[in-house]
Amino acid sequence: MKYKELIDKMTLEEKASLCVGGDYWHSKAIERLDIPSITMSDGPHGLRVQKTKADNLGINESEISTCFPASSTIGNSWNKETAYMLGNTLGEEAAYEDVDIVLGPAINIKRTPLCGRNFEYFSEDPYLTGVLAREYVKGLQTNGVGACVKHFAANNQENRRRTINAVVDERTLREIYLKAFEKIVKEAKPWSIMSAYNKLNGTYCNENKELMNILRKEWEFNGLVITDWGAENDRVSGLIAGNEIEMPGGRGNGVEEIIEAVKNKKVSEEYLNEVVSRILEYAFKGAERETLKEYNRQEHHNIARKLAEDSIVLLKNDEDILPIKNKKVAVIGDMAKRPRYQGAGSSTINPYKLTNLLDCLKEQGIECSYAQGYERIESENDVTLREEAIDVAKNSELVILCVGLTENFESEGMDRFTLDIPSNQNKLIEEICKVNKKVVIVLSNGSPILMPWKDDVQAIITGYLGGEAGAEAMVNCLTGKVNPSGKLAETYPLSLEDTPCYKYYPGTEVSVEYKESIYVGYRYYDKI
Ligand code: GLC
Repeated sequence: MKYKELIDKMTLEEKASLCVGGDYWHSKAIERLDIPSITMSDGPHGLRVQKTKADNLGINESEISTCFPASSTIGNSWNKETAYMLGNTLGEEAAYEDVDIVLGPAINIKRTPLCGRNFEYFSEDPYLTGVLAREYVKGLQTNGVGACVKHFAANNQENRRRTINAVVDERTLREIYLKAFEKIVKEAKPWSIMSAYNKLNGTYCNENKELMNILRKEWEFNGLVITDWGAENDRVSGLIAGNEIEMPGGRGNGVEEIIEAVKNKKVSEEYLNEVVSRILEYAFKGAERETLKEYNRQEHHNIARKLAEDSIVLLKNDEDILPIKNKKVAVIGDMAKRPRYQGAGSSTINPYKLTNLLDCLKEQGIECSYAQGYERIESENDVTLREEAIDVAKNSELVILCVGLTENFESEGMDRFTLDIPSNQNKLIEEICKVNKKVVIVLSNGSPILMPWKDDVQAIITGYLGGEAGAEAMVNCLTGKVNPSGKLAETYPLSLEDTPCYKYYPGTEVSVEYKESIYVGYRYYDKI
């Protein structure tokens, strides 16, 4: 055992204390023995380091960092170098902020397009997800910073995510929902894995011995299993199943329960020593990393733009209306000025430099008239905004219409209730198409949407959630500086009823049965 000498000096209380977080973002340090804590931070597409009030939903302040494109955006790049670059650049910022483990990548498979957190995940396909996330982990960990691949496993909806029991047959579980985790564990050796909130086949993931044995015994994973924040339901069962650290700290009686379990022989001290040894390995691994003295924020912003450019998808381009040749255009939509560039929840970033499409077009010498067109949250003001927008549109050679999913239409912690974008936006598009035939739709969306107007507009291009430099990337594509070469990494159904798990999602109050089996995404649509 690597740290036997040190472990022999530890009291039972000290050993047990390492198995529960010291506070919201750190594992426990033991000063007496010079054992450092492990500093953890969200999130998958940028650092959410909180130095004052902590939370796991992106509510309180966090340090400024680069907001990179969300993973659903990177999924559209189909590009290993793009994914590696994201991990590597994020890892540099973690080394600067003294973060030992970044809580990402998030790799759950997109079982239903309604999952509110799909913006944070790569694809509906486990192979594509596995390849891109493997590269992300390699890039991150070259900086001496660990990844925490999440959420293990079958966390495919936000509805009742903390209690729902996912009932999944073994073939489906292994071929679809575990496959990407397996690929990353075997090919990138992540420092840690985050156990998910939900139950899997009747037992909470963190205490699920069958699930954890696949990870530990079949894949020979010897890193750390860290719970999702508040995902521990029974500390001793979790320890026995294979969880090293319950997060966050500062709650529950996990330490006392572990001490009690050793005293009444439910857990052997030898077993606890092995758990402690793995925790020490990563605590010291993080401590030996050199703190990065500084990094070039503008350079990271430029990298964020490149990643976004790699991931933009051109969905339609009738009569080669793109790239735009006009020197005078109408730019319509609140998102043209206030970009929707990231998801909501624990992955929320406080960006270094946020640019918008309207200003970026103007900087490229294009004369723009602007109208807001709609409210982010639908209101009676939409009627006035729509009329103003129609006026602007009817007097313009070409209309660039910026629409998509708003913050209240997709977020961690809740699932979408429709595949539509907000109705005030659909209405605006319908009305604009009546007064101008040259309409380019620019989408900001973290997951599939219905496009009832797709035959009425001349071009459709999506930047998904492009990060802080997403608007620059989009303008580079609109003006022809960059050739958009992204491809969708998930299927866009023509109706919700067409989706594979339509009849089985979101399940009942207590369980959701994956009756569509392996037929997820294109596997289903190709079959029917
Ligand atoms: C959240 C998320 C997880 C995140 C953690 C810490 O509930 O599920 O992805 O890393 O808590 O914020």
